[in-house]
Amino acid sequence: MKIALIGYGKMGKAIESVAMTQGHEIILRIDANNPEGWQAPEMKQAEVAIEFTAPESAPHHLVKCFELGVPIVCGTTGWLNQWEDVVSRCTALGGSFLYASNFSVGVNLFFELNKQLARLMAPHDEYKILLEEIHHTEKKDAPSGTAITLAEQLIANNSAKKNWVNQPTTQSDELEIISKRIDKVPGIHKILYQSDIDSIEFTHTAHNRIGFATGAVMAAKFLKGKTGIYTMQDVLGLSR
Ligand SMILES: NC(=O)c1ccc[n+]([C@@H]2O[C@H](COP(=O)([O-])OP(=O)(O)OC[C@H]3O[C@@H](n4cnc5c(N)ncnc54)[C@H](O)[C@@H]3O)[C@@H](O)[C@H]2O)c1
Repeated sequence: MKIALIGYGKMGKAIESVAMTQGHEIILRIDANNPEGWQAPEMKQAEVAIEFTAPESAPHHLVKCFELGVPIVCGTTGWLNQWEDVVSRCTALGGSFLYASNFSVGVNLFFELNKQLARLMAPHDEYKILLEEIHHTEKKDAPSGTAITLAEQLIANNSAKKNWVNQPTTQSDELEIISKRIDKVPGIHKILYQSDIDSIEFTHTAHNRIGFATGAVMAAKFLKGKTGIYTMQDVLGLSR
């Protein structure tokens, strides 16, 4: 597979390593210091683009790929306030994209278990629910995209929760997300159900970036040659 990497930071480099190990070809690397790469002939030859940059640039990169007819896997988080606009541009331009707040297979299984646990716990309002995420200090967005997905799943499966807030709260209809930034942590997500009697803790810990990169390459193989909008649930054959 011929891949264009958009964003050549920590994730771009991890994806390059995984993709090359699997025999794929990185035909272009575009980073903040070489935007002229978008005009390179290799950009049109790419069978798929993989984008891990920054929240302010990701929507623009998605639309550029729709215009060029290059399917794009996007892992950048923190831009979902522009989701509707990007979806309508994709549809209008006949484009193709796959976004995941987290590409790791383990986290996507964790998402499924989170929905099930939320349904089981919903009738038991003696438990206070708390969501915690810990990431490295360079992370630009808070809460993490993964924490937002977890929170939205919880809210969809527990009618007592109406919205999430990224701070401590005493409002029973608000779901509290606490974000911590600690040097070098690739990503920890924890859901806590706490009562006076006992506590249930449900945690996913990423040990490195290889899981995200492997999932992104898996998603690229899935997306190649397709049009439309997809998720990791489609890649893994899980119900949406
Ligand atoms: N979905 C997932 O599984 C997942 C996993 C890890 C990180 N992320 C997200 O991916 C994004 C990148 O993470 P990272 O750890 O690689 O960050 P990073 O800061 O190490 O790398 C980002 C790279 O993007 C480049 N960049 C910034 N603006 C650009 C632009 N306009 N054009 C081209 N390149 C540009 C920067 O120069 C940098 O090299 C973040 O939003 C992060 O939250 C998602």
